[in-house]
Amino acid sequence: MSNTQSSFGGHKAGSETLTGPLLVVLGVVVVAGLLFGYDQGVISGALDGIKRQFSLSALLVEVVTSWVTLGALVGSLAGGYLADHYGRRRAVLIAGMLFVMGAVLQAVAPDVSLLVLGRLVVGASVGVAAVAAPLYGAELAPAAHRGRFVAAYQLAITIGIFLAYLVNAGLAADGQWRLMLGVSVIPGVLLVLVGMLGVESPRWLVKAGRRDEAQAVLGKVWPGEDNAARLAAIEHTLDEERGQASWREVFNPAWRRPLVIALGLAVFQQITGINAIIYYANQIFAAAGFSTPAEQTMATTWAVGGVNVAATFIAIAFIDRLGRRPLLLAGLVGMGAALLVVGFAFLSIDGSPAGDGPTTAGIVTLVALVVFIVSFAFSLGPVVWTVINEIFPGQVRGRAVAVATAVNWGSAFLVSQLFLTLIDEIGKSTTFWLFAFFCAVGWVWIYRAVPETKGRSLEEIERSWGGTPAPAAA
Ligand code: BGC
Repeated sequence: MSNTQSSFGGHKAGSETLTGPLLVVLGVVVVAGLLFGYDQGVISGALDGIKRQFSLSALLVEVVTSWVTLGALVGSLAGGYLADHYGRRRAVLIAGMLFVMGAVLQAVAPDVSLLVLGRLVVGASVGVAAVAAPLYGAELAPAAHRGRFVAAYQLAITIGIFLAYLVNAGLAADGQWRLMLGVSVIPGVLLVLVGMLGVESPRWLVKAGRRDEAQAVLGKVWPGEDNAARLAAIEHTLDEERGQASWREVFNPAWRRPLVIALGLAVFQQITGINAIIYYANQIFAAAGFSTPAEQTMATTWAVGGVNVAATFIAIAFIDRLGRRPLLLAGLVGMGAALLVVGFAFLSIDGSPAGDGPTTAGIVTLVALVVFIVSFAFSLGPVVWTVINEIFPGQVRGRAVAVATAVNWGSAFLVSQLFLTLIDEIGKSTTFWLFAFFCAVGWVWIYRAVPETKGRSLEEIERSWGGTPAPAAA
């Protein structure tokens, strides 16, 4: 252990204080999450009205739904560049401005091509925000709060999804899809406002050669503390890194281990099925015997949207106390078991004639989906974003997080595109069992490959990848 890092690990009482500037950082993280989540949740409600207005073909329905994910994939790569070149905070501001433009474009689009353009712009902005905001939070949060900061991002995503479901339910009767999409201007404007109040990340400032500004920011964030040691720790780590990061540097064999961990987590978060359920909850509940749209919306809003929010608090409470690994491993057990049960429930649902109201198997499906959402919300949801944002060395952090985020969106795109096809081809039960199988594979891989990072400073984590022995996996 170097003498500079010990004072930077967040173990000292003083450095755990959440000062005003840190609360603004938290505000940025939260608003970015709201924007991400609202956007994830809103399309399921808006789609019907859009379909009717523009008489969309099946292909265009898919384009309107999924191109936002493609925009996000590109946006997250651009976000890595923006965050590394212009700073974490400025990247967040760019995301907020783009989001407002995209939201307005969607809400007033006179034809479907402009609507799709709006979806792409919104997607790109969500991609940039999804990279820049958690990174900003992870770099500024004291080590002892870092998990909670990024978990707050996840909480905000879930609140965004829940709000979108509520807005969808409230406006569905009149098919006011323009308003549903237009409401997202609000988090966009908020993001710009909160971002303007925020400080830049001192880690990024040092990297950009702006030492004096970094010192000034540290003085603002932790007034009256020994910030010389903090600055020295940041500089010490950056000294060991040579040159400006290029995209190639992200794939440097020296960082293979954190890269594999981040990409693996990004993929497992999606291929275990979360967004199949978030996007298609109404259809799943319909298939499970919730016959009226009102029953389906109710089940989706509360059993998926509401439960997702509530259970994320479990992660916030425990992520920095129990650590990342126990949450991930326990969550995957719950998710896998729930998916097995949903698969069995559908065996009996599909074999029986359609009734008018939820059947026993339908209720079992509802309960199992609640267990699934709870298990995801305290584990893979928040912990994956936390770990992705804390394991990379500063030199490549922005771009590496961007690559992992893009892979996450790419996997989300594939799952949401393939889900309905899979159900047609291999049936509902087998599809859910396939997700369960991925939970099992993910469990074994995480058990073997993902180290515990709780309570360690970013500098300490960084040092653990090279030279010094790797962190224990248990
Ligand atoms: C995932 C999203 C998902 C959300 C659900 C996030 O961590 O990245 O794809 O929709 O959690 O709460």
